[in-house]
Formats: sequence, structure tokens, C-alpha cells
Amino acid sequence: MNKNNLYNLLVILLILNVSCKEAISNDFAGNTNSIDNKVADLLAKMTLEEKIGQMNQYNGFWDVTGPKPAAGDAAKKYDHLKKGYVGSMLNVRGVKEVRAVQKVAVEETRLGIPLIIGFDVIHGYKTLSPIPLAEAASWDLEAIKKSAQVAAKESAAAGINWTFAPMVDISRDARWGRVMEGAGEDPYLGSKIAVARIHGFQGDDLASHETIAACAKHWAGYGFAEAGRDYNTVDIGTSTLNNIIFPPFKAATDAGVKTFMNSFNELNGIPATGNVYLQRDILKGKWGFDGFVVSDWGSMNEMIAHGYAKDRKHAAELSAIAGSDMDMESYAYVDELANLVREGKVKESLIDDAVTRILKVKFELGLFDDPYKYCNEDYEKEVTGSPAIHEAVLDVAKKSIVLLKNENQLLPLKKEGQHIALIGALAADKTSPLGSWRIAADDNTAVSVLEGLQKYTGNKLTYAKGADLAIGKAEFAIELKINTEDTSEFPEAIAAAKKADVVVMVLGEHGFQSGEARSRTDLNLPGVQQELLEAIYKVNKNIVLVLNNGRPLTITWADTHIPAIVEAWHLGTQSGNAIAEVLYGDYNPSGKLPMSFPRHVGQVPIYYNYKNTGRPIIPAPNEVFWSHYIDESNDPLYAFGHGLSYTTFSYSNLVIDKVSNDTFKVSVDVKNTGSVTGKEVVQLYIQDLFASVTRPVKELKGFEMIELSPNKQETIHFNLTKDELGFFNNTGDFVLEPGDFKVYVGGSSKTVLESKFNIE
Ligand code: NOJ
Repeated sequence: MNKNNLYNLLVILLILNVSCKEAISNDFAGNTNSIDNKVADLLAKMTLEEKIGQMNQYNGFWDVTGPKPAAGDAAKKYDHLKKGYVGSMLNVRGVKEVRAVQKVAVEETRLGIPLIIGFDVIHGYKTLSPIPLAEAASWDLEAIKKSAQVAAKESAAAGINWTFAPMVDISRDARWGRVMEGAGEDPYLGSKIAVARIHGFQGDDLASHETIAACAKHWAGYGFAEAGRDYNTVDIGTSTLNNIIFPPFKAATDAGVKTFMNSFNELNGIPATGNVYLQRDILKGKWGFDGFVVSDWGSMNEMIAHGYAKDRKHAAELSAIAGSDMDMESYAYVDELANLVREGKVKESLIDDAVTRILKVKFELGLFDDPYKYCNEDYEKEVTGSPAIHEAVLDVAKKSIVLLKNENQLLPLKKEGQHIALIGALAADKTSPLGSWRIAADDNTAVSVLEGLQKYTGNKLTYAKGADLAIGKAEFAIELKINTEDTSEFPEAIAAAKKADVVVMVLGEHGFQSGEARSRTDLNLPGVQQELLEAIYKVNKNIVLVLNNGRPLTITWADTHIPAIVEAWHLGTQSGNAIAEVLYGDYNPSGKLPMSFPRHVGQVPIYYNYKNTGRPIIPAPNEVFWSHYIDESNDPLYAFGHGLSYTTFSYSNLVIDKVSNDTFKVSVDVKNTGSVTGKEVVQLYIQDLFASVTRPVKELKGFEMIELSPNKQETIHFNLTKDELGFFNNTGDFVLEPGDFKVYVGGSSKTVLESKFNIE
């Protein structure tokens, strides 16, 4: 049955069933008891099946974001909805759809408990911000928070209560397609961004109609899938788990995130969904998290394929005991859990705990006071795509662009008297810039680079596609590719390039070439784009390469030959405007890479905070036995934290003041040495030179964005305390050990100044 038929069916069923019951939610409206008391009162009225119903989340009747549901599912879901056996739905969106399902839950079930409506508001709802990896490149926590705020407002106006974001998985492997959804490779930056996004989504008042509950995912280790292949096995040692993987999740907990999502992967032999250590011992135990944990799509059932559960009933038992509170699309809880409780295999107290957590969030969202507070079509129309939302997404889009290279100041472009050739299928594409995770956004709603550049009318602009863009039909089509063979349109592009003063080439990945289940073994420009780049270079060397991509790419040839390279990711709805403003210098680029760019895919995983090894990278002359490759350097092409500006900055006068044995003040002078005003992200790294568990060669421990006009200088201050200087040892304790430390400061992880201090 297609989407429309199903919807009609649902509407007809709703109309026929006019006997709306007195909703229990009314009993709680205006009830001044504390939320804990309200939850306890309600829990006492619930049957075991109704409690388990709250732990059941179904995908809606319309879109899917996982393996397709089996035939007959829709009827079963609808029946369960009416019985009160559904606590949440995902992929139900827009006031009309949300109202239809909420009405059943509130007006037809015995207790009238409202649903919590979840959705992947990953980088916006209909109006899209840059993909999260791009936003992370802004290092601008205010802009990132604002972007989450407007995403919350627009999605809440469409009936959504809860986003499955932020994804706070650290990843060092650009082959993994979901690096586009995270904040990159660093736990310190990742933690700051996680907090900013959670504050943006949840605001100060979850009951406001402009905020939604956030979800820290995927707990845990999902970004470390072996060989970058999505859903693959994860094996992580204690030190990496505690110091790299856990910190953004801990920061999310401390920031008050309301929910967690567990992950598809197994971690050291135990699937995350059935993992007692992760969910009970660490998250709900050591960290005291009092929200709820939702499983990932079908991940309870997947424990059978993992070889951890013998059947679905066993999977339900393992998941409930491990602390997975809500089942997304496994049907395991709704079908099996009541029997498991009756058989004494799962204690009812565990069910009560899970339901208490879920109901609490529903109360906090204000759903019991007004389950339809998110369901106003006029308001939905007014908010969706409002000018204020476009303004916020344009702002963060500009800030997310990273200038990777700019030889001979080819950029910014002159505004008059130039002939510019714009080349590349992606340059005119109005869908690809939306990026992956854009379920609610319509195709062709992004501003293309062509449209952005057309607004600058002082130059002559000629567009040629160069290579066709062939993509699969559906969002989740597997064979997405940018034309692998056809070079028939090269001549037109070459002719345009010959006549131009400057060539702007927009190349990279289509929006759906990164994201979930979009792993790659090759990080080069897909299809014939490299060939096109080289063909154009033969006739005109004045090339500005604008990259559109959801992951670091190996653009090593381009770095050697192309004078100007701009990393423009997938920037969302305002993409073309943001890129045009940067190319023409109306916005001076300020982004810095949140992930290292490899020179070759064989270097992956590559990251700046590596360990020194016993045979470090600086070899003795003529020595062969050191940790290196014989065919490529160890260095990345572009380091973590790298990003240029149209001006330049100098660093001097690094001073360390000891305040106490474990507290230091660091200051450094930064000066704008160029000719235009610009922003710089001043970065501070430390190195603990020897410790009971070896420490990385560098760890980011502070950053600050400053804006300086030409010749202006500012002194930047950082504090280093136990929080920044300590680490987790292998028994999970946070320790600060005496010894020598180094401090490094600069505009990237390839820092320019260093100094030392000692802790006694
Ligand atoms: C699977 C993804 O792993 C998860 O991140 C997402 O939130 C759910 N599907 C729901 O779409």
C-alpha cells in the first residue's frame, strides 16, 4: 500500500471511530504535583502491557530510515496504537500526520498517554543548515547552537518533539560515511559541540513549543567501525574508550540531554543494545543519567545476527536487562516482554524504571498539558522556511567553509571585469548541497553555486557542466555515483575554461554519497571528476576548486597543482549564497578542519592526536626501522585545525604562569599581519610527556575565536586545570600525574609556538 492510501486509511479509521475517551492527560493538566509524583501516579494505573507499550517505538506509515517494514506491519501498528501499546513514533512529520497518530493515542487509548514523536532532525528540518561535520568546521559554538535552535523551532512547528541528534561519535576514518553526521576526530571539540547542539535543541525550557528533546548517539563506539565499513565490528581498548569515545557522551549527559540512542555495533564482543556495562554501569550508574535510552532501528533483533541472542525473545530479555528503555522497530518488547516478566526472566521493576524515564520526558515536554501543542497548521506555515531561519542557516554555512589553499591570493575573486568559467555538475545542483539526512527537505531547494555567483553581476559568468551527474533515484539507493565514464561534455567545459580569467570548479561527492551505509574504500573525487580537473588545468591554471563533500577526500594532486581550494562540504539550503560570499570576499573564511585530510586512503585512520610509538616519526638519517610508510609520508595532506583566511596572523609571546601545582594560565599574542579584517581560531594543545598510560603527542585543550582588523593585536588567555591536564587511566579513574608537560599554540594542530611546565 502506498503512502497516500495508508494515510487515507488512517484518516477514515479516525473519522469512523468517534468515541473519544476521556484522556487521562487531562487529569494531569494543571496538576501542580512534581513531575516525579505525576509519573508515579500514572505508572500505578498502568497494566503491564500498557507499560511495555510505552517502551515500544514504531516507524510511521510514511517514510523509512532503516530496512523496510514487513508486509502487514501497518495494520498491526495501527491496532497497537489504539490499544496503547505504542509510546513513540518516528518518521511521522508535519502537523497533519502527527495530529492523526497523536489523536489515536490521546483520545482512543484507555489512558490517553500522548506519543513522543521522534525524527532525525540532524541538520535542520525543511530548511537545512550545513551537515554537522561542516558546522563543526566553524568552531563557532554560538552559530552551532543557533543552528540547532532554529532546527528545533522549525521541526517543533511540524509536530516533532524529539530529535535523534546530536551524533557525538568520534571518528578517525573518512571511509565511514557517517563522519558527515558528527563533529570529527577530536573529543574536546566534539564535547563542546555536543553541548552547544543540545542547548540549542532543548533550550532552557523543554515545555516551550520551540524546543525539542535531544538524543546523544550512538552509545557507543559506532564511529570506530573496522575498516570504516558501516555497522562493522568495533574493538576498542580501555584507554581509547575512556579518553576518546566517552567524553562527548559524558559532556552530553552533564548538559542535560534527555535521551541516548545505543548503537548497531558490538563493542568488544557485546552488542551495544545488550551491553550492561555501557548502559547500566556507565551511563545510568556512574554518570547518573536520568533520561531514557532508545535502541537504534531494529538493533535488538540484530543481536541475533551478531550471534549474541538466540532469538527475538532472548534479544528482548538481554536488551531490557541491559537498560535499553525503548525498542525502535524490533517489535521485540511489544511481542515478548510481557511473557518474559511473567516468566520471571525480566523483573517488573526494570520495566517500571524504563517507563518512568520515558514518561518523565513526556511530562517535561509538556505533552500531558497539551498533546496537540505542536499541532497548529497556521503556526507550522508561519515558521517553516521563515526569513529568520534562512538567516541563521546562511550564517553558519558561511562560517563552516574552510579555505584550504590560496596561492598568489587568487581568492577573493575580483568583483568586476573578469570572465569566470564555472564548471562541474555540482555547481548547478540544487539538491546535493542539502547533504545526507534531509528527509523532510524537498529536492531542488538549495541555492546552487551557480545561483549564488549569478548575484554578483560585475563579471561575465559562463557555466559548463563538464561531467554529467548521474545519481540513483531514491535517497537510500545504493548505486549513487557521479558519472563514472562519460567524458562527452568535457570539450564544452574546456572551451569555456580557455576563454576565462578564472575557472571555478565545483567537484566532490553528491549529498547522498556520504551518510548512513555510504562507506567508501576510495577517497578520491568520484567518477571522472579528477580527469576533468586535470583536463581543465591543461588549458587554464587559474583554478579555484570548490569541494562539496561529506568527508575528508584525498585531493593530493589538486593540492600540488591547483592554486586555490575551498572546502565547502554540503552546506544546506543556503549553500550557493554562502559559497559566493566567501569566493567574493564578502565573508572572510574562518573555518578550521575538524578532521585530518589524508594524502592517501592507506593512511586511514589518521588523526592528529596519535601516540608517538617507540619508534617515532623523526628518524635518524639513513634509518629504515621506524614507524612509517615506504610509499607515502605519515603526514596528513591538511592537518586537523587547518584553515586559512584572506588575511594572515602571527603568534608570539607564549607565557605560562603557574597559579598552583595543577592550575596554569597560558597567554599568547595574536596579530593580524595582513590587509583585511579576519577571524582566527586560536588553538591550544598540550602533551603529557610521560604517564602511567601513554598520552598522545598533542591534545586540544582550548580554543578561542577572535576577530582582528589589520595590524591589531590581542592577548588571548587560556586556563589549564586538572580537567584539561588529567586523563582516564585503565581502571577508569580520572588522574592527574606529576611530570613534564608541553603547551603548543597556533592556528592549527601544526602549531607554531611551544613551551613547557612541570607538575610536582
Ligand atoms: C538508524 C540510525 O543509525 C540512527 O542514527 C537514526 O536515528 C535511526 N536510524 C532513525 O532514523
